[in-house]
Amino acid sequence: MVHVLAAVAWPYANGPRHIGHVSGFGVPSDVFSRYMRMAGHDVLMVSGSDEHGTAIQVKADSEGLTARQTADKYHAQIVADLQGLGLSYDLYTRTTTPNHYAVVQEIFTALHENGYVVAKTQMGAISPSTGRTLPDRFIEGTCPICGYDNARGDQCDKCGNQLDPADLIDPKSKMNGETPEFVETEHFFLDLPKLAPMLTQWLDSREDWRPNVLKFSHNLLENIRERAITRDLDWGVPVPLDGWRDAPMKRIYVWFDAVIGYLSASVEWAKRSGDPEAWRRFWNSEEARSYYFMGKDNIVFHSVIWPGILLGANGQGELGGEVRDALGELQLPTEVVSSEFMTMKGSKVSSSRGASIFVGQFLDEFGPDALRYYIAVAGPENQDTDFTWDEFVRRINFELANEWGNLVNRSISMAHKNVGAIPAAGDLTDDDRALLDQCTAAFDVVGDHIAARRFKAGISEAMRIVGLANKYLSDQEPWKLKDDVARRDTVLHVALQVVSDCNTLLTPYLPHSAQKVFEALGNDGVWAAQPQIVDVTDGELTYPTLQGDYTAQQATWAPRPIVAGTPLAKPSPLFAKLDEKLGETGPSWAPIA
Ligand code: MF3
Ligand code: ZN
Repeated sequence: MVHVLAAVAWPYANGPRHIGHVSGFGVPSDVFSRYMRMAGHDVLMVSGSDEHGTAIQVKADSEGLTARQTADKYHAQIVADLQGLGLSYDLYTRTTTPNHYAVVQEIFTALHENGYVVAKTQMGAISPSTGRTLPDRFIEGTCPICGYDNARGDQCDKCGNQLDPADLIDPKSKMNGETPEFVETEHFFLDLPKLAPMLTQWLDSREDWRPNVLKFSHNLLENIRERAITRDLDWGVPVPLDGWRDAPMKRIYVWFDAVIGYLSASVEWAKRSGDPEAWRRFWNSEEARSYYFMGKDNIVFHSVIWPGILLGANGQGELGGEVRDALGELQLPTEVVSSEFMTMKGSKVSSSRGASIFVGQFLDEFGPDALRYYIAVAGPENQDTDFTWDEFVRRINFELANEWGNLVNRSISMAHKNVGAIPAAGDLTDDDRALLDQCTAAFDVVGDHIAARRFKAGISEAMRIVGLANKYLSDQEPWKLKDDVARRDTVLHVALQVVSDCNTLLTPYLPHSAQKVFEALGNDGVWAAQPQIVDVTDGELTYPTLQGDYTAQQATWAPRPIVAGTPLAKPSPLFAKLDEKLGETGPSWAPIA
């Protein structure tokens, strides 16, 4: 048994999430976590809503709300979406909690005391008409890197690069169009150059990562500079130093606080579990493993900045330093697992560009496992991949419904109609054994794929066995064996055993239908546990979280002998077939233009 941290990227609480988001961080991390639990490992899957910084403040301004109100509104919506999709978080929390503030400040202090945080003056914007500091989000101009003319003072939404307001070409205040004045202002920087040699050495030891992640990270390290970790802004975690703590326009930069969320959420989970030190087995032990799941626009923060923060807090950079007792020595990521982008007709499926397919609407119409299946078999695991309604219809109708749904349905129906229970098997033929052996062997094959983060290969192998089972039924034709009831029952028994085992193989991918198949095979209780929405409090704050009791589920990663005589009811269809027209028109809420 290994202690496995599944660290899932924190979605911004500035709008409902679209299917591109959940294809990057959501489904892959859940397939992995569910499998690892089934295989007997100790898994902690954490994340939460990313609620600070410009992204949230800009949305709040546009909706006439405060940042806090906006964060509350979208955090609740995102929690509902992720719950609906069945993402099995041990804790999904948020970054605006007192616990998170305390952990972020602890890490900042550790870095500061070890010397990796340096104060520097930089050019900051003020409004010439009022003389006041202009927050980064209120400055717009042309991106010096890609030429996009609506880049913001902190970041370009087109190329994704982090910017300083003073970098913008032709900067303008969004408040009144005036050209800001730049004056010297003090900020804190993370001294990444002092951490770079250790970071390089560490990255060199990460050989089995996806090649895109390694290449990208090495390039970045080659010309690493100090990075600002505070901003001119009034929404965020205060800087825990005298003279800064109460400064109204100085806050810790959102990306610095967000990545620390993995640790703070683990600490919060431990407190809520009744054993406040329980997080340490996922963070302080060299035996522990940690996997970080995200879309590719997040790579640098996880493969370079976050490991840099951890090394600095551990006192492991060029300046040395101490380990703080409250933190202990923190382990660096075992792997940064990044997906590429899910696109729609070539453009990123992104709320900022209009072409959005929101998770909530998708789940209402098609249910969670259809989306999970599509993302697992046709998602952007290794390259940018276009979502099309046409392919969605094909995958659901011809694979999920015709292959898997149909196998389940006809096996159970025949057994129900002829026997009313799971029939007993007589002597097995070579054909029977061949199918059962393939199915048993698939546990290692699929399991190895998932453990190695090859989710597409895993589900393809599971579906290959489903195909073999369908072929077996067509070849054996149990419906023609009215005069040889013993042989008919043997065939049905073999088919039901394979249905049961394929269901286990598909459980990490399709946990909702897996529960139904488990019940349709005459079993009771929880096979695949689902996350629950639980309201909790921290200080003054009450907020919804996702939590789950996954140790109580029955699903384990092994063949499970079915029991002859178990009563079977008439099954209802597992997956509804989609109207083929959907492939041409799209649904009314996301029509194909
Ligand atoms: N909110 C960021 C995004 O949506 C992701 C933050 S991941 C974290 O791109 F680790 F930093 F939290
Ligand atoms: Zn740009």
